[in-house]
Amino acid sequence: MSKMAKIDCEGHELEFPVVEGTENEKAIDISALRKQTGLITIDEGYVNTGSTQSGITFLNGEEGILRYRGYPIEDLAKNCDFVEVAYLLIYGELPNQTELSDFRDSIRHHTMLHEDMRLFYNGFPRDAHPMAILSSVVSAMSTFYQDSLDPHDPEQVEISIRRLMAKLPTIAAYSHNKSEGQPFAYPQNDLSYCENFLQMMFSVPCEPYKADPTFVEALNMLLIVHADHEQNCSTSTVRMVGSADSNLFASISAGICALWGPLHGGANEAVVSMLQQIQEDGGDVDKYVAMAKDKENGFRLMGFGHRVYKNFDPRAKIIKKACDQLLNKLDLDDPLFEIAQRLEKVALEDEYFVKRKLYPNVDFYSGVIYRAMGIPVGMFTVLFAMGRLPGWIAHWKEMHESPSKRICRPRQIYNGPNVREFVSIENR
Ligand code: CMC
Repeated sequence: MSKMAKIDCEGHELEFPVVEGTENEKAIDISALRKQTGLITIDEGYVNTGSTQSGITFLNGEEGILRYRGYPIEDLAKNCDFVEVAYLLIYGELPNQTELSDFRDSIRHHTMLHEDMRLFYNGFPRDAHPMAILSSVVSAMSTFYQDSLDPHDPEQVEISIRRLMAKLPTIAAYSHNKSEGQPFAYPQNDLSYCENFLQMMFSVPCEPYKADPTFVEALNMLLIVHADHEQNCSTSTVRMVGSADSNLFASISAGICALWGPLHGGANEAVVSMLQQIQEDGGDVDKYVAMAKDKENGFRLMGFGHRVYKNFDPRAKIIKKACDQLLNKLDLDDPLFEIAQRLEKVALEDEYFVKRKLYPNVDFYSGVIYRAMGIPVGMFTVLFAMGRLPGWIAHWKEMHESPSKRICRPRQIYNGPNVREFVSIENR
């Protein structure tokens, strides 16, 4: 017998089923509440709302745990490459040798963009933000691949998944080439996923190019730690759009737009801008900590705080270690890294941050690594999107495979004016 929760609702005692997950998380299923009482629940920002049951990612914000399909993020970041982790997220199991090489091969065979798609880039202004280009070109994929838009046809979904995984790095690299006025480098299918991306970003036709293996390793790790994070803002967007049976390209394009925001994936860009601002302002970290604490000011320490993690962000731990190693190896003395370290120390000891459990999040150190790799600030969130793609796909697919899938349609409490008489324009 399933457990029930009793709720006293305006004098009526009602019972609702308690749903329990495999990690003993519990939720009250209130889907019948309105039918029984006429009441809805309200939860601005979905702070306490479970939108679905999902078997993809488990995270425990209190204990700083993050697992994809049951595997701890630390193990995956240490032992896997990104394509392997993408397979795990999308299909539910780690691939064997044959499955992995088939998956890699099929991705390799779709890396090029249609030549007409390359022409889009001529229409964007030179200073267009690469996230805007990314979402536009991904959305436009639905005009080029009209043969694979049906979300209910598993074969069409499969080919769209491969095309997205293959083409997103090419679309991303071209948005960088466009802003630099550099020619577009075609993908090279003998290279690994990360090497190929770096080659398309940085090679020029007049010189040979070989990606630095240290950068390839760092990029691989960053893509893995960004690959999924359960029902975050962009993933919920992908699910929301997909719930209307919009095609996969349209749904992912919407997710890219959500990720762009500075409170979400755009924070990595905002962190580096903030560190630069502190440096140009004389490096007074205390001043910025004081500004962040001042409620009148509106300034926030970017890269600090998380809706779910209230202990530490396990991804930030992995990235910080990799960041230390990379800077040591390259013998780089990045003044922004030094400011980041001081800021972290001051904030972690300050009562305001301690009391509110505001720890450095995934975006705090990733920007420093990207800088060390020579990736321009505008591309940081694009790299986040490349990493998050398999997570978005996995959630979209899980939702469509669920027998209980319904269009997402929250309700509201109306608090506007009551009915009033129409006033003609000359009397207003
Ligand atoms: N600096 C200063 N104060 C902060 C910060 C910050 N970065 N973050 C939260 N607070 C304070 C906030 O003012 C509030 O204080 P009080 O209780 O006195 O009103 C308290 O901490 C709780 O904050 P909240 O805004 O209610 O928390 P939230 O769960 O709604 O927001 C957040 C989470 C990540 C949007 C927020 O912490 C933030 O804006 N951080 C900076 C942006 C950032 O780094 N975003 C990346 C998130 S991780 C990657 C991703 O999601 O893509």
